[in-house]
Amino acid sequence: MKKAFLAISLLLATPIVIAGGQGLHDAACMQCHATLMGGDANAIYTRNTRRVKDLNHLNGQVKGCALAAGVAWLPEEHQQVVDYLAKTFYRF
Ligand code: HEC
Repeated sequence: MKKAFLAISLLLATPIVIAGGQGLHDAACMQCHATLMGGDANAIYTRNTRRVKDLNHLNGQVKGCALAAGVAWLPEEHQQVVDYLAKTFYRF
């Protein structure tokens, strides 16, 4: 509940950047992660054993996973997704 509220607040505060990154992310990335995480796709970013520790690592992981997802994002789109994940889940 608290997380949902936070996500909504972020959305309202910066609608364009967050909605862009989240929209791209949700369309391409949720299904496979949901399968891995037993239904809760975004839990892959918040689990105790999460692997990404810094922005560099996040960039590399998003690139690799974008390949796995079969999307060819422009550099700006890649950046929007990285920003969305960093702001919403990782908060380095
Ligand atoms: C075909 C399956 C698949 C797709 C599609 C996919 N991923 Fe992943 N993703 C994985 C796997 C497997 C892992 C690693 C899980 C582990 O280490 O336990 C992972 C892990 C990650 C992590 C690191 C999580 C952590 O531990 O900190 C990020 C970030 C990530 N994915 C981003 C994305 C993004 C962004 C997309 C959409 C472009 C995406 N993934 C699409 C399979 C996928």
